[in-house]
Amino acid sequence: MRGRDASIERRHLSIVFGLPGFVFALMAPKPPRKRTPMNEPAASPEIKLNLPDAAATDRLGQTLARHVGAGDVIALSGDLGAGKTSLARALIQALLAVEGRQEDVPSPTFTLVQTYETAKLTIWHADLYRLNNPREVDELGLEDAHEGGLLLIEWPDRMGDELPRERLEVELKESGGKDGLKHAPKDGRSARLTSWGGTWDERIRRVAAEFVD
Ligand SMILES: Nc1ncnc2c1ncn2[C@@H]1O[C@H](COP(=O)(O)OP(=O)(O)OP(=O)(O)O)[C@@H](O)[C@H]1O
Ligand SMILES: [Mg+2]
Repeated sequence: MRGRDASIERRHLSIVFGLPGFVFALMAPKPPRKRTPMNEPAASPEIKLNLPDAAATDRLGQTLARHVGAGDVIALSGDLGAGKTSLARALIQALLAVEGRQEDVPSPTFTLVQTYETAKLTIWHADLYRLNNPREVDELGLEDAHEGGLLLIEWPDRMGDELPRERLEVELKESGGKDGLKHAPKDGRSARLTSWGGTWDERIRRVAAEFVD
């Protein structure tokens, strides 16, 4: 529902502002280089993977599950319906499966945060889409996740400067359609994995190697 509302709103805005926006883009000075919320230069390295179908997204989540641990933060970005929850769900279910558990992993769209206790860690799965102000993050108790937890965040931009510097960033995008035709959501996705410090540099290389095998 919210996806449809948002896309109608976006379409409306692009019709209203489309032409003036184009003219403005031609006249406006070049914007400054994009910075992280903490105003630091871009991280490296980054790895791009193709996810041709939903099963591939699941497989990436399952692969990541073999490389995560307590204290990790994974920021999942991408448009509405890009596959953030699918990836988080596959990752969480893989961690639960290690303990022989088979559980539903609902989207935290309305609860904002769902937690899962395992023998090794607490998994925090957050969807911050509905957050109006980064200060509201404090009320969600996400800081506790830093203490021995694994934190998976959808819509991490909503955290502003509260977003932990050390993290893995996974950006999901719809893949382009064939022959220049407009693509549809079923066309598949791509995932860009970016290391923001810690041991993520090595880990994303290992994840990518395992994923493409
Ligand atoms: N690689 C893929 N190719 C095609 N479809 C995919 C792929 N990965 C996930 N999907 C599908 O995309 C749909 C939306 O996924 P999902 O709910 O995970 O998106 P989301 O990014 O969490 O959206 P929201 O921003 O609303 O939380 C699901 O139907 C899922 O099966
Ligand atoms: Mg989601």
